Amino acid sequence: MAKNVGADGRETWSSSTGFILAAVGSAVGLGNIWRFPGVAYDSGGGAFLIPYLCALLTAGIPILFLDYAIGHRYRATAPLAYRRMAKKTEALGWFQIVLSFVIAVYYAAVIAWACSYFVYAFDLRWGQDTLNFFVGEYLQVGDPEISTTIVPAVAIPLVLVWIAVLVVIALGVTNGVQRINVIFIPLLFIAFIGLVLRALTLPGAAEGLNALFTPDWSALADLSVWIAAYSQIFFSLSIAFGIMVTYASFQKRKANMTSSGLVVAFANSSFEILAGIGVFATLGFMAHQASTSVGELEGLTGPILSFVTFPAVINEMPGGTIFGVVFFASLIMAGFTSIISILLGVAASVSEKFGLSSTMSAILVSVICGTISVTLFSTTSGLLALDTVDQWANNIGIVVSAIAMAILVVWVYRRSELLRSHLNAVSTFKVGRWWIAMIGIVAPVFLSIMLIDKLRSLIMDGYEDLPQWYLGLFGWGTIAFVLVGAAILTMIPWNGRDKADFTPWPPLGDRAEEEARR
Ligand code: PHE
Repeated sequence: MAKNVGADGRETWSSSTGFILAAVGSAVGLGNIWRFPGVAYDSGGGAFLIPYLCALLTAGIPILFLDYAIGHRYRATAPLAYRRMAKKTEALGWFQIVLSFVIAVYYAAVIAWACSYFVYAFDLRWGQDTLNFFVGEYLQVGDPEISTTIVPAVAIPLVLVWIAVLVVIALGVTNGVQRINVIFIPLLFIAFIGLVLRALTLPGAAEGLNALFTPDWSALADLSVWIAAYSQIFFSLSIAFGIMVTYASFQKRKANMTSSGLVVAFANSSFEILAGIGVFATLGFMAHQASTSVGELEGLTGPILSFVTFPAVINEMPGGTIFGVVFFASLIMAGFTSIISILLGVAASVSEKFGLSSTMSAILVSVICGTISVTLFSTTSGLLALDTVDQWANNIGIVVSAIAMAILVVWVYRRSELLRSHLNAVSTFKVGRWWIAMIGIVAPVFLSIMLIDKLRSLIMDGYEDLPQWYLGLFGWGTIAFVLVGAAILTMIPWNGRDKADFTPWPPLGDRAEEEARR
């Protein structure tokens, strides 16, 4: 397939459908399948849908539009797009890119586990004691320490995942990333609908759905439930990571941005709720088999849900093998389309800053990120490290990024009116002043309350009884790594590209924007 290139020489998606599928591919990921169902269940069940919808409407969609507006107007990856908007904000772009880099390092490990389990599903190799199999035999989890013992069963698929990522990114936007999404996303939706239909016909499914959807209204008074809803939306929509800025920058100049954004946001949430229904119908079956209630079951979230509880259910289910194979294949497809969005964001940023060809930077970034990933996460200490890094990156890193973005754009550099005009100039769904109120006031206020509460709990209570030195290294160390990485990358001089002739389109006659470019 020929590359699609815009008038300015920048590669583009070949159509809005290509862009939408890629953006859905980034959004729909492990977060939807393994994170949402458990979070919803723990946070008030049916009642969780209220904070979830509030988070979607007050922060999710508005910040998605903000990412799109910046990427589309300034046609560059996060660091350069921010720089073109207002020079000093380049550092925020790098903060987001380094944060995504960190996420890719561990996200790949989970995809690698899914690859192994995909193979194991054919002969239900996990046996009856699925917990022992996962932490013991498969991951060989040890104490919180830094181990150098490589577990080949994890390392091999992990290396393969990184090779696949490298190939797709090196093939470029149209031939690599778009093509994979055009194939995987429809396939994923079909596979998942099949799984959900099967789950709904299992005995006990209705009880599972009752357990998920029975509202516990008192949960609405609990701040942590609201926090859970906001973090879920950020991670799930891939916003404030610089990734959607990058994706939007590859969109054609004339492109309906806000309407695409609504499609992406609703597709992502629908998939999330579908996953909730599928997972809980299956858990209802499990409870039914064990003659107990869903409330009594354990391991309803995170890695344990997908890699311990699900294999146990698959053992019991008539036709379990097929269900297992399709389930782990879905996890791989969902995860893979998300990780390539992250790597594309990182590789394209590096290519712009250092003037490397896109193939060269794809190789460089995938090799570095892959090496760190394999070194850290295919050892016996992988699971714990993963959980700790995730906790800090998602509850602190991304929230800081979103607050900084809102404050810089709306209050410090006052570009929100300009960006709103940009969105309205190219899109059919017009955004009103409400958008500025959301990104300028509602979202940052909510997010700041969340952040303070989370910082307080991590500082006062630590995390999962892990030793302080460990939290310092993998938790706070992650944040320090992102800050230092962002500072260094910002300080390295540009090789002239930042100065290259660039005129935002369409012209909106904004004097501050003109001056910022001089
Ligand atoms: N949105 C993806 C998911 O739900 C994860 C992701 C996070 C992708 C950040 C890109 C950037 O799993």
